Amino acid sequence: MKSEWIKNRETGIKKLNRNLECDVLIVGAGMSGLLCAYQLQDMFEHIVIIESDEIASGASGRNTGKITSQHGLNYQEILKIHGEEKTRLYYQENDKAILEIKGIIEKYDIDCEYSEKEAVVGCKSVYMTKKIADEIKAYDTCSIPYEIVRENEIEGIRYGAKFLKQASFDPYQFCIQLASRLICEIYERTPMMHIHDHVVKTKDHTIRFQHCILATQVMPFQFKFFYTMTAPKQSYLAALKPSDKKNLMILSEDEITKTKNDMKNFMLIGGYDHALSDDSNIKWQSFKRDLVLEYPNHRLLSTWSSQDYQVTDYLPIVDRCDDFIVITGFNKWGNTNAYVASLTVKDILKDEMTKRRELFSLKRKSLVFSKNFITENYQVLKSLIESKMHDSKLMIPDNHQAVSFQLDRHPYGIYRQDDKLYIVDTLCPHLGCTLKFNEHDKCWDCPCHGSRFSLTGEIIKGPASVGLHHSECLISELKLDK
Ligand SMILES: Cc1cc2nc3c(=O)[nH]c(=O)nc-3n(C[C@H](O)[C@H](O)[C@H](O)COP(=O)(O)OP(=O)(O)OC[C@H]3O[C@@H](n4cnc5c(N)ncnc54)[C@H](O)[C@@H]3O)c2cc1C
Ligand code: FES
Repeated sequence: MKSEWIKNRETGIKKLNRNLECDVLIVGAGMSGLLCAYQLQDMFEHIVIIESDEIASGASGRNTGKITSQHGLNYQEILKIHGEEKTRLYYQENDKAILEIKGIIEKYDIDCEYSEKEAVVGCKSVYMTKKIADEIKAYDTCSIPYEIVRENEIEGIRYGAKFLKQASFDPYQFCIQLASRLICEIYERTPMMHIHDHVVKTKDHTIRFQHCILATQVMPFQFKFFYTMTAPKQSYLAALKPSDKKNLMILSEDEITKTKNDMKNFMLIGGYDHALSDDSNIKWQSFKRDLVLEYPNHRLLSTWSSQDYQVTDYLPIVDRCDDFIVITGFNKWGNTNAYVASLTVKDILKDEMTKRRELFSLKRKSLVFSKNFITENYQVLKSLIESKMHDSKLMIPDNHQAVSFQLDRHPYGIYRQDDKLYIVDTLCPHLGCTLKFNEHDKCWDCPCHGSRFSLTGEIIKGPASVGLHHSECLISELKLDK
């Protein structure tokens, strides 16, 4: 489903129709890819961006629009793993990015509802106050400025911390207007299919590059080790009318993480983050139920889900890897991190060893030895094992529902629309996990690394690079036991 930002908008940019050679090829036209082009346009003459879908159709056009250096409860984790100096540097880089993004908006006169706001992270329940206190302790240790939020100050927050001089914007408008101002060629509906030896292959053409930046969040299928370091998290958002028009962006970290941001014409409510190995339908149902209970007097404009990648040690990865540079792992805070990543890419291409570059390096030891590395990979292994062990019988699903089943120990899924059945092979063509049906978006999702497929097996989102085997039949054609 399209987000409220993207609804009814088309960029009209063409797909690639010839072979190309360029100085810099950027794959992915989200915040990261576009900001890289922005940083590099004075350094290189010929920059090309290819995008598998449309500009900002990924997480960048589907997020909550918060531009903030307050990153949930991440500082306590970053501090535990990386220590004081690196945590402070992470904060400083992200905090500077807020003003830098404002600078780009002013420079190019981008109309994206930019406004200065305060950001609050806190909790409602008593048992989460310790977690909030730990985050505040991390702020103190790293000299990160904040104000305490006490009970009754902000509705729904018992205890929390406020960052001043943060901001919010329409991330989709920011991206498409920035794209239109950049000195580079952009091609939409042009997925990278393969990368090797300074050449990217799309479906029909090749692009030879001097430098290549993969700003795709997900990495090409041949780099399997990335999937042991990163894991996608899924979240849900809804746009509701009217907006409360408050100058506050709230994140409540209770049993469920809930986010809120008020824009001019609607307010965004969401969160409900979960790993893709969890049952997305349970989260989606509880999100829908809470919307009705908590906002009975608001009109629901739209709902959507989106994914962002988390690295096992809580810092993004921006580094050279073979003959290209990778950017991933913003852990749901990519609006500022994408700016920091674009500066890091510039450091790499200028061959300057900066502290920022060390922070996001792929060679850091914490990538392999963190506790999260073990738990995330356990989930991937568990899904793989479960997918091999399950055995069930064939059932015809209810209308607009799906069922999964196994034949000769191979998993399949059937979706029913009236008399028609859409059957897909649900063994993920990426690394072989079994796909789960996403009831909200009516598609097949991979619990391991986030690939998504349509009801007829086409790829909606990688890392898988090929679609699913699929067939269709009519129920009336089947010989069913009575
Ligand atoms: C629900 C939700 C709310 C969020 N809210 C916030 C927020 O309020 N503030 C904040 O700072 N962050 C937020 N984030 C995080 C933020 O949206 C992301 O971190 C950020 O948008 C990532 O930008 P990106 O450019 O790296 O990735 P994306 O925007 O996902 O862009 C990657 C692009 O690459 C393209 N692509 C992928 N594979 C290929 C291929 N093979 N060939 C060509 N193109 C390809 C995709 O189509 C996509 O357009 C949120 C995330 C979610 C999920
Ligand atoms: S196994 Fe990796 S995305 Fe499915």
